Amino acid sequence: MRILMEKLFPERKNSVVVRRGIKNVQAQFTDISRLSLGYDVIHVYASRCSVRLPHLKHAHETEKPGKWDTFWRGTDRPSMRYDLFVQLPEKGQWRWEEKRAKKAAQNYKYYLKHESHRKSLDEWYIENIQAGINLDFVRINEDGIVQYYVPPQGCRLISDNWLDIPAAGSFTEFSTEKHTELLKRVIAWNTGSGDLVLDYYAGSGTTGHAIVNLNREDGGRRKFILVEIAQYFDTVLLPRIKKVTFTPEWKDGKPKRVATSEEAERSPRIIKVIRLESYEDALNNLTFDEESGQQALDLFRDDYPLSYMLKWETRHSETLLNVEQLQAPFSYKLHIHSDGETRERSVDLLETFTYLLGMDVQTRRVYDDVGQRYLVYRGALRNSRTVVILWRDITGWGVEDYEREAAFVAEQKLTAGVDEIYVNGDSPIPGARSLDPIFKKRMFAAVEV
Ligand SMILES: C[S@@+](CC[C@H](N)C(=O)[O-])C[C@H]1O[C@@H](n2cnc3c(N)ncnc32)[C@H](O)[C@@H]1O
Repeated sequence: MRILMEKLFPERKNSVVVRRGIKNVQAQFTDISRLSLGYDVIHVYASRCSVRLPHLKHAHETEKPGKWDTFWRGTDRPSMRYDLFVQLPEKGQWRWEEKRAKKAAQNYKYYLKHESHRKSLDEWYIENIQAGINLDFVRINEDGIVQYYVPPQGCRLISDNWLDIPAAGSFTEFSTEKHTELLKRVIAWNTGSGDLVLDYYAGSGTTGHAIVNLNREDGGRRKFILVEIAQYFDTVLLPRIKKVTFTPEWKDGKPKRVATSEEAERSPRIIKVIRLESYEDALNNLTFDEESGQQALDLFRDDYPLSYMLKWETRHSETLLNVEQLQAPFSYKLHIHSDGETRERSVDLLETFTYLLGMDVQTRRVYDDVGQRYLVYRGALRNSRTVVILWRDITGWGVEDYEREAAFVAEQKLTAGVDEIYVNGDSPIPGARSLDPIFKKRMFAAVEV
C-alpha cells in the first residue's frame, strides 16, 4: 500500500503515530525480540506540496474558547489613558500601552476584512501562533464598550503523536477493527460538509460508522463509499451500518437509546449496496459456441488465451453483455456463486449503464402506458449535457408498439428539452439513440483515470 501511495503522491508524505492494543503483556518480557509493538502508523499523503492542513485540536472538552473582556481597568495610571475608538478615560486606565492597543485594533480590523468570512477568530489566532506570531485584538462592541481578546485556553494543537486516543475498536468481533474516535479524527481533520470519503479496504465498516457519528455531531453531509471483498460485508459491515444509522449508541447488540430527532434528521437516508461481478462470476457465465471452446477452457484454464476466447467464442455470453437481452432489461440474469451454490440472479443493468455513462442521476421514475412500464432516468453528464434514458421491455414488439410508444413519450413530454436521449433497443422517438452499442463499448473500454 505504501509503495502504491508513494507512486501516486510522490510530492508529500508524513506519518502519525497511533496507539495499538498490546495483547500479551507478560510474554513480551520473556525475550528481547518479543517486546510488543505499541504503536501503529497512519501515513498521510497529499496531492500537492502546497496543501495546507486545517488545525487539529485535542477534544473540545479540554478547551476553553477565546472570549472578549473589558479593556478598561480601575487601576489609575494617567500615562495609560489615551484616545481609543474616540474614548478617552477620565479615570482608571486602558489595559495595554497605546502602541500595542492601536496595533491590536488594526489587527482586528484586518481580521474582519480579510479572514472573518473563512475562519473564526480563534482559528486565525491559532494559525498565527503556529507561524510564531502572537496577535492581540481590541474592538469596540455594539454597546460601545472597548474590549480585548482573551485567547483560547488549554487548547493544545495536536502533533503527529496521537497516543491520546485508542486505535483499536470493539463494536464488532472483527479482529482488525479500528476505533471510531480514530477515524473520526482523521475525517474531521480532512473533510468538510458534503465531502466524499472512500475506504477501499473497509473491513468492519468503521469509516462509515465514524462518518455517520461525525455528521450527527456537526450537522455535516459527508458521504462515504466502503469497498469490501470478503463475505463479512454481509454479516459484519452492512448490519453495523444499518444499526448505527438507526441509532448512535449500542451495547451487546442492542440499541441503548433511540436517536434524538436532531440525530435522526442528520442520519443517512439511503445506503446503496452494489455488488460487482467478480472474475469468478465472469468465468461462471462464459458460454461457448463450440464444444471445443469449453474443452479448451477446462483443459487449459490458466493458459488458454483468454483474450482471444473472450473476443470470439464467448461473444454471446451474458457476462460480456448479451445485447439481444437488452430487449428485456429488467430480467437480465447472471449465474452468481455464493455460499457454496450457484444461483441465477438478476443484475441491475440500468444502474450499470448510468455508471458507464458517468451520469449524475437526478430522477428515476416509473411511467405506465396501459400496462407498458417505462423506467426513466434523468440527469446530466460530466460535460453538463442533460440526458434522459428510457428503459422498457420490447420483447415481441411490432410497428404499432413503437408508434404507440412515440405518441406516449411525446404526450408525457418525457424527452422534452434534453440534449441526449437513450433507449434500449430501437425506437422512432425523435432524437433517440440506441444505448446497446454504447453499453457494450463502454463495458469493455479502458478505464478512464
Ligand atoms: C485491516 S482490514 C480494514 C479494517 C477496518 N479499518 C475496520 O475498522 O474494520 C482490511 C480489509 O481489506 C479487505 N480487502 C483486502 N483486499 C481487498 C480488495 N482487493 N478489495 C476490497 N477489500 C479488500 C480485507 O478483506 C479486510 O477486511
